[in-house]
Amino acid sequence: MSEKKNNQVSRRQFLNYTLTGVGGFMGAAMVAPMVGMAVDPLLKADGSDDFQYVMDVDEITDEPQRKTFYIDQQDGWYDTEAERTAWIYRDENGDILALSPICTHLGCVVDWETGDHGNEFFCPCHYGRYDQNGVNIPGTPPEGPLHAYEYQIEDGRLYLGRANPREGA
Ligand code: FES
Repeated sequence: MSEKKNNQVSRRQFLNYTLTGVGGFMGAAMVAPMVGMAVDPLLKADGSDDFQYVMDVDEITDEPQRKTFYIDQQDGWYDTEAERTAWIYRDENGDILALSPICTHLGCVVDWETGDHGNEFFCPCHYGRYDQNGVNIPGTPPEGPLHAYEYQIEDGRLYLGRANPREGA
């Protein structure tokens, strides 16, 4: 008889379990949206996958042109506008190249044809050099080519996206 009684749940225990379960569920339902709101900006993409208009395709020449454009960027809870720059031109095959000016050595900004460096990109910080295709010249500090922007063309207009690393020398 006492063994049978031990296996039964008393009314008090039943109420305890039920109220604890319902209370826990309600607490989680209240806290989850707050946690979601707090963490959401950190999980969102920073907008760098968007493509931005930079110039018309018929303005692109064989000579690299430096162009500045802006992307929307989410920095935690803040929306900001970040400046980007690209060297844009057609290579010897007529293909469009849009190169990041950020030196792949330590991040200085490269320039086109400065000083004695004709037909090259040159980084003044540690004398990094890149050929006309933005490929690093062996024997100079950079160990990889300038990154290339992804691009799209729509209605004769050039849009740039993210800059990606490339295989190089
Ligand atoms: S940062 Fe460009 S060569 Fe060092």
